[in-house]
Amino acid sequence: MFSYASNLFAWTTALVGAVVAQPSTVDYDTLPSTGSVINLDVTASNTTYIVQANDTIHSIASQYNVGACDLARLNVLADPNFLYADEPLRIPARATFPDDTSCFSTNNTGATATCIYGGPHVYTILPGATIQKIANERYNITAESILNTTAQTGYIAALNPGIYDVLETGETVKIPVCDNTACTMTEFAFTYGTLQDFATEYGITVGQIMSLNLGYNHTELVAPLGVLYDCAVLE
Ligand SMILES: *[C@@H]1O[C@H](CO)[C@@H](O)[C@H](O)[C@H]1NC(C)=O
Ligand SMILES: *[C@@H]1O[C@H](CO)[C@@H](O)[C@H](O)[C@H]1NC(C)=O
Ligand SMILES: *[C@@H]1O[C@H](CO)[C@@H](O)[C@H](O)[C@H]1NC(C)=O
Ligand SMILES: *[C@@H]1O[C@H](CO)[C@@H](O)[C@H](O)[C@H]1NC(C)=O
Ligand SMILES: *[C@@H]1O[C@H](CO)[C@@H](O)[C@H](O)[C@H]1NC(C)=O
Ligand SMILES: *[C@@H]1O[C@H](CO)[C@@H](O)[C@H](O)[C@H]1NC(C)=O
Repeated sequence: MFSYASNLFAWTTALVGAVVAQPSTVDYDTLPSTGSVINLDVTASNTTYIVQANDTIHSIASQYNVGACDLARLNVLADPNFLYADEPLRIPARATFPDDTSCFSTNNTGATATCIYGGPHVYTILPGATIQKIANERYNITAESILNTTAQTGYIAALNPGIYDVLETGETVKIPVCDNTACTMTEFAFTYGTLQDFATEYGITVGQIMSLNLGYNHTELVAPLGVLYDCAVLE
């Protein structure tokens, strides 16, 4: 289903300059657990729930008396706010870690950064996205920094959107990348958790993971995804 592996990796390695990609597979369950991000022991019950129109991760979790993040992590949801009607979700056996926030990206309207480290510098628009959401929730940078980038071409340059205007799905936005910065890239097989869990653990943003995987928004197939870590200013 995803053909990003060789082509995208070659492209992105060039993009971020001195980065050395070392493809490897890491089992998320073996990563160090710090803070409240990763719960290592959510077990599945034999119950599967089929998502109905208008369900949210919170409504389903409360129906089964488990945490929204238990449910999201067990089902390896890329973004727990994205559910599909008719999608099957495995229900946790019990509320193991009834956390309803730490697996979600936050709407950080106080973001101050004006560029991201390393890249990639193109983001593919998902349904309902605005410049404000992409900037503050996906990348933790200011909305103005996206609109102000002289690199904007095509759709965004032509549209000249306000930051709350809903953008067209599948179009692209250029993301400002800080000069002289790079990240290390690898492939990562998510067996547990959300994209935000990985981003929090490794100091990157969900926008970087999504853009590296061409707008990937859901990990139901648990395909290895391209991820970044060790982002830094180059010496
Ligand atoms: C699920 O079903 C299998 C077989 O029907 C059973 O052995 C197992 O104990 C059940 N697991 C749970 C968590 O109920
Ligand atoms: C979902 O919510 C919308 C708006 O509240 C409502 O019009 C629609 O009938 C709901 N759909 C279902 C399947 O409940
Ligand atoms: C957003 O970036 C600021 C620094 O610019 C940092 O202090 C904050 O923790 C970041 N927030 C998130 C949710 O990553
Ligand atoms: C997720 O991405 C797929 C294409 O990869 C798209 O068809 C779908 O509408 C997207 N869903 C959401 C909720 O963004
Ligand atoms: C983020 O918060 C601001 C201020 O409350 C709000 O205007 C905006 O719609 C929110 N964005 C998202 C994507 O939820
Ligand atoms: C846009 O970027 C230019 C060059 O970096 C800067 O001088 C200018 O102040 C920025 N404008 C806004 C509105 O942020």
